Amino acid sequence: MENKIEPCAIIIFGATGDLTNRKLLPALYKLEFENLLHKDSKIIAFARKIKSNEQFKKEALKAIKNFSKFKVDNLVWKKLANKIFYHQSEFQDIKGFNRLKAVIKKICTKTASCNKIFYLSAPPGFFEVIISNLKKSGLSAISGWSRVVFEKPFGRDLRSAKKLNESIKNAFKERQIYRIDHYLGKELVQNLLVLRFANSIFEPVWNKKYIDHIQITVAEDIGMGARGNYYEKAGALRDIVQNHMLQLVSLTAMEPPVSLNAEDIREEKVKILRSIRPFSLKDVDKIAVRGQYGSGKIDNNKVRAYRDEEKVDKNSNTETFAALKLNIDNWRWSNVPFYLSTGKRLKERVAEINIVFKKNPGMLFNGHVKHIQPNMLIVRIQPEEGISLQFSAKVPGKKMIMDHVRMDFCHECKFGPNTPDAYERLLYDVTIGDQTLFTSWDMVEHSWKIVDKIAKAWEHGKVLNYKPGSWGPKEADRLIEKDGRRWYEPQKPSYSELLQNDSKQ
Ligand code: BG6
Repeated sequence: MENKIEPCAIIIFGATGDLTNRKLLPALYKLEFENLLHKDSKIIAFARKIKSNEQFKKEALKAIKNFSKFKVDNLVWKKLANKIFYHQSEFQDIKGFNRLKAVIKKICTKTASCNKIFYLSAPPGFFEVIISNLKKSGLSAISGWSRVVFEKPFGRDLRSAKKLNESIKNAFKERQIYRIDHYLGKELVQNLLVLRFANSIFEPVWNKKYIDHIQITVAEDIGMGARGNYYEKAGALRDIVQNHMLQLVSLTAMEPPVSLNAEDIREEKVKILRSIRPFSLKDVDKIAVRGQYGSGKIDNNKVRAYRDEEKVDKNSNTETFAALKLNIDNWRWSNVPFYLSTGKRLKERVAEINIVFKKNPGMLFNGHVKHIQPNMLIVRIQPEEGISLQFSAKVPGKKMIMDHVRMDFCHECKFGPNTPDAYERLLYDVTIGDQTLFTSWDMVEHSWKIVDKIAKAWEHGKVLNYKPGSWGPKEADRLIEKDGRRWYEPQKPSYSELLQNDSKQ
């Protein structure tokens, strides 16, 4: 069923922040370009800094030009600019919320609709006060629908996440709450459901009988930039594993849902987190490795150590790398480990899911093998989106020699470069009221239960050092090697040279 695009007021709290500039404004521009914003919708930029409407719009245009994949069309920008209003207020100031209510009511009388999206792109420390002021001012209860969007992190552990959730529940119902995990908006992540459940060839082999193990990698080559303040309290575990990576585990491992409704999909996903084999605090060392980048060189340029980054403690023990081994104790996955690895300042930026199949008995071909590698199905989430199937083939010639080859599906070559950015898709889904690609409370709760245990074990002891530009500390290799397996280094797909991701269309 196609949901209708209705007029609404999109109120962005934290409208002068980095996320708004980098992601939300370019996404709103693209939605305007595609005619996916209702002509009567308004965007209210709520922020603490004092500035005029015109000044905000000037900065917004600059951000869109800087961060959008597309050249800015003046007419489209004008249409978008006409929708934008700047609203200055402190987040703690109830008067600012009362004024906002008056603004929204005025808009409503013109469009006969008081639908509202409250987008919390503010620092998480302000979430509770914003929610409380939305309730106190009566903004959350004005007629018309209200939806509230939260950026991560949703809490810092289970306790704080529960507290935050309780205060949100005072003002909003679960069906109104949209918790962003932008990985769910990525095209190849959405493709997982199609790959698995719309093709008859994959589902029959998607289980312990055929799959040996699964590797999930979310690697970044960048360092901390200006985010030291936030990252010191998060680390790779809370920043990436608790949300993006556990979402990828769930989507890879879930059972087929009974329908594509948000509820049915979310229900299957959460069952996976609940089936992850429990571990005790003293077992954490056996299933998890953490690291922190030191100083070094990448492409001949000097890079500083994490501890020398801006706003980072000189003795910081925060991990910038985490590797984990998880087991899912259900009928489909028993004894098929999921190995996860993520980090900053690694060799390259790449996110992929690698399904590694069991080796065949090999009797026939023993002695004919050049490099033996198992069959693999690789879902390349980024940067070159696609799916590759690896299998063995005979090397031409009189001798029976084998090598492994890959059959690559290049997403951009087939569907063009106009894949919606994750934020564009997610913002659109909020406007039409589709929660499928957002995190349910159950998912948040169960992922914190897993992550809290590891974080607790990591409160003490030392983080391992790794070289920038490497794949992390050597101990991460041992984590998998002690099981008789190894990490498969991500390979550039054959089509990567065809793609010109960076050029503006
Ligand atoms: C964010 C993390 O959620 O994801 C960042 O807070 C990280 O630390 C980013 O850099 C990675 O996103 P992407 O889309 O570039 O893989």
